[in-house]
Amino acid sequence: MAMWLSWLERGTHNAEVGGSSPPIATISFSSTIIKIMTDYFIGLMSGTSIDAIDAVLVDFTRGTPQQRCAIAHPIPTALKQRLHALYHADSVELAQLGQIDRQLGELFAESVFALLQHSQLDASMIKAIGSHGQTIFHDPNSEFPNSLQIGCPHTIRQMTGITTVADFRRGDIAAGGQGAPITPIFHREIFQSNQASVILNIGGIANITYLDKDTFIGFDTGPGNTLLDHWIKQHQDKDYDQDGRWASSGSIQSDLLDICLSDPYFKKSYPKSTGREYFNLSWVENNLSREYAPEDVQATLTELTAITIANQIRDVTSACDLIICGGGVHNEFLIARLKHHLSGFACRSSEELGVGPDWIEAIAFAWFAKQRLANKLFDLKTITGSETPVHLGVVF
Ligand SMILES: Nc1ncnc2c1ncn2[C@@H]1O[C@H](COP(=O)(O)OP(=O)(O)OP(=O)(O)O)[C@@H](O)[C@H]1O
Ligand SMILES: [Mg+2]
Repeated sequence: MAMWLSWLERGTHNAEVGGSSPPIATISFSSTIIKIMTDYFIGLMSGTSIDAIDAVLVDFTRGTPQQRCAIAHPIPTALKQRLHALYHADSVELAQLGQIDRQLGELFAESVFALLQHSQLDASMIKAIGSHGQTIFHDPNSEFPNSLQIGCPHTIRQMTGITTVADFRRGDIAAGGQGAPITPIFHREIFQSNQASVILNIGGIANITYLDKDTFIGFDTGPGNTLLDHWIKQHQDKDYDQDGRWASSGSIQSDLLDICLSDPYFKKSYPKSTGREYFNLSWVENNLSREYAPEDVQATLTELTAITIANQIRDVTSACDLIICGGGVHNEFLIARLKHHLSGFACRSSEELGVGPDWIEAIAFAWFAKQRLANKLFDLKTITGSETPVHLGVVF
């Protein structure tokens, strides 16, 4: 048995691993045994940045989630453009929406195939896929609050043959919650310790989780990478500001910063959540009261992102450990500004705690899928504001 386990571990830790495979005749016998002994789930995350589909194989065999293999599956440029257009459109043709939902479902399934290939595992080894889907509209404060994630879970289920859990937000909204953020529940699961800490995820939107022995709070602080990505796309046709270099070449414009900071979202009390239907290029352009050099706007938006995150962390606690994850952790200028505004906090990437900052959200959805199969209810009162405990996700 030890031999099979060691083969399994070699084969699944690293996408580059080749090595010798077991003899064909023994594969089916061994995979049956391994299947009984292992607890594998796949998490799929495609965030508001629309940068890639993060697909992670998570092993719960030893109880705590272990990342076995992770890939960033590319989203074809034409599909990216269709998705970006959906965010900006005032109205959307239903026929187009239906097609993109199916197209994305197929792409999610393809990302699972790519992950399985890298892992050298068969689909039959996977208990379930947790697929967040692509949020195309998040509107938790209207008369009929709603949040829409697409990427047809029936298609994922059909193509992969793997039980799929999806539609994680609408149950919470139906229970009176914001539907977001929900990953604080997972942050608590993996980062809870004796010490008070804040977990900051800098995705398209930034969200924080605060944990101490008596308190559990989480909410969206506002823009993470989204304004930075939008502005550099518009002016330099780049997907993101590598390491924050363009922003660091500009100077922060205090008049523009003050106008941006006056947005009521930043002062609103939690529970609260937001999305790129609110913080987007139009939001930036509406705040430009005069001509600015584009790099100065990038510098100012980076400062805005850092200050709004820092201020809202300070509203919750005056000092503690700060664990940072999400793609924004790679933006050196943003992180330097954040540290500047958060002196007194011990800031570090989640990498230092052994959890890759780019994969936490996808790992979370593998974990959510596992919880859903176990029929676990979550009390999100202090996070999303939902009135009753809820199941997160629907099993397909
Ligand atoms: N080297 C880098 N320098 C600057 N920014 C980076 C770098 N690497 C990644 N990023 C930023 O991270 C973004 C992707 O982050 P991430 O995948 O966490 O966001 P997301 O897909 O929107 O997820 P979420 O669900 O948390 O909103 C990119 O769009 C980019 O802005
Ligand atoms: Mg992403």
